[in-house]
Amino acid sequence: MKKIIEKDYQSLSEKAALLIKEEIEKNPSLVLGLATGSTPLGLYKKLIEMNKKGEVDFSQVTTFNLDEYLGISSSHPQSYNYYMHKNFFDEINIKKENVFIPHGETENPEEHCKWYEKKIEEKGGIDLQILGIGGNGHIGFNEPGSSFSSSTRVVSLSKETIEDNSRFFEKKEEVPKKAITMGIETILKSKRIILLSSGENKKEAVKKAFKGKVTEEVPASVLQTHSRVTFLLDEKAEDF
Ligand code: GLP
Repeated sequence: MKKIIEKDYQSLSEKAALLIKEEIEKNPSLVLGLATGSTPLGLYKKLIEMNKKGEVDFSQVTTFNLDEYLGISSSHPQSYNYYMHKNFFDEINIKKENVFIPHGETENPEEHCKWYEKKIEEKGGIDLQILGIGGNGHIGFNEPGSSFSSSTRVVSLSKETIEDNSRFFEKKEEVPKKAITMGIETILKSKRIILLSSGENKKEAVKKAFKGKVTEEVPASVLQTHSRVTFLLDEKAEDF
């Protein structure tokens, strides 16, 4: 695995944007896997800026988001659907039909998960997957204990994740208890993976993922088994 250390959040975001731009230049119809959370916000801001200046073109790019809360409407301000449109898609020249995010309000979650997995395959698989990391080492919503051979499915969120994510909701009780997430195997099928992490509170999780034991108890540690992974960190997230 490769490790890139940037001085701070700003330069980490700029570097991530640059890496994506390079991939799109090489392959204008890139299939890009995207993440939510606070970490990629700077990256999206930078990509919007570059797109408006004509430096990067999303007109042929397809995107697949990692996850979505279950039982939440796409117009709910805390849904990942809403987040992605507000913070990224509404501001760039991507075609709406090329944007895929799991539906939080699906009537048949199991069928929907199968459909999502098939759609990724149909589009030729994910070329570049962007990941964040949870404080407990989760990727997407694959919590500790998730099977390394899991595919897109419905999962229950851990207490720690509900606690962590309650900062975005008015009350902790409002945080959905379930979600749809790409599986670990789905993520591992991506041709290239870039994990972003910034700040001191992720230090332990990042260290375990990068050089700890490969175990289902630390989902991100599975990345050590992939041939093309980059950890893009700022100085505060790195101490090893
Ligand atoms: C959520 C998302 C993850 C994300 C994680 C970290 O739980 N499902 O995909 O990586 O949060 O979020 P943040 O970047 O806000 O720390």
